[in-house]
Amino acid sequence: MLGRQTVLGGLAVAAMVAGTAGAAAQTAVERGAYLVNTVMTCHNCHTPMGANGPDLGRAFSGGTPVFDTPAFRVRGSNITPDKQNGIGTWSEAEIETALRRGVRPNGVPLAPPMPTGFYGVLTPADGKAIAVYLKSLKASPNKVEAPVYNAPFEREVLPGANKPADPASFSDKVKLGEYLVTIGHCMECHTPRIDGKLDVSAIGAGRQEFAGPWGTSIARNITSHPQKGLAAWSDDEIKRAITQGVSRDGAKLKPPMGYGFYARMTPGDLDAMVAYLRTLPPRE
Ligand code: HEC
Ligand code: HEC
Repeated sequence: MLGRQTVLGGLAVAAMVAGTAGAAAQTAVERGAYLVNTVMTCHNCHTPMGANGPDLGRAFSGGTPVFDTPAFRVRGSNITPDKQNGIGTWSEAEIETALRRGVRPNGVPLAPPMPTGFYGVLTPADGKAIAVYLKSLKASPNKVEAPVYNAPFEREVLPGANKPADPASFSDKVKLGEYLVTIGHCMECHTPRIDGKLDVSAIGAGRQEFAGPWGTSIARNITSHPQKGLAAWSDDEIKRAITQGVSRDGAKLKPPMGYGFYARMTPGDLDAMVAYLRTLPPRE
């Protein structure tokens, strides 16, 4: 779809939650930090790039990447609580609405590179936790070029992602995995597009191309297809690909997938993700 200028290596994520023993022991701000800094890869689009990946000294201050299309030209926003140049005047509820429905407090919709079509599924507690965490960040005065909108755009919602998930269902590992794969917006990249729209009949089949400083990478088939997908892979091989960016044959995988962030997921969350991927019907 879009030429993403994002690069991610195995970087150290600041403000991480060390040892997330159990969700029950976490405060909202800790849970928000976990989601934002790991599976949801917000840094990938909201933290400026340094020489070795996102510059965490300027975490969430925005400016890169640039998404330049005929319909819009937008940049990752400053999502720190700065009152002038960030989202410091937004309430927690307004932040949640932006995430879940893709609309700012002033009514202006967010352009689709911000994957809000995947975030409606956030449980009530997780939606709030993210808002609380963003409010707790250090404010950055970084001013980001204002978005330019030339033509209307459609918001795409992944089927099933339009309403909050029931956390009680997460005792089922596959359901938890489905939730994590949804908020990790894996299928935004790993599903082919027809005329720019996700082909939901081919979820997980890959094929989208991403151009950047790395050249071009093509999202792969992550369904349970016996030859083209992951059916023959071991769980550990799938986990290594997600967290280290190494394919089954040992070849290094390219950006823009945020391997270094997924690497910070808890072992239990990673297991659940793999369990869900195994249930994806095989697709060519
Ligand atoms: C694939 C890239 C991408 C990812 C991942 C992403 N965002 Fe965004 N986000 C954007 C872009 C681009 C914009 C600006 C859209 C526009 O100007 O229309 C944006 C806008 C926003 C805004 C609105 C800011 C404003 O001032 O209008 C918020 C809040 C936000 N993102 C929070 C998040 C959070 C929290 C996460 C992780 C849970 C996240 N984003 C993940 C690309 C992304
Ligand atoms: C921003 C786009 C993007 C997102 C989001 C993304 N991926 Fe990827 N992924 C890619 C691309 C592109 C490749 C292939 C890179 C290459 O060929 O060098 C890839 C490769 C992979 C591979 C390796 C497959 C193989 O045959 O080597 C797996 C497994 C994978 N992704 C799973 C996931 C999962 C699970 C998620 C969500 C947690 C995810 N991806 C999120 C773009 C993305």
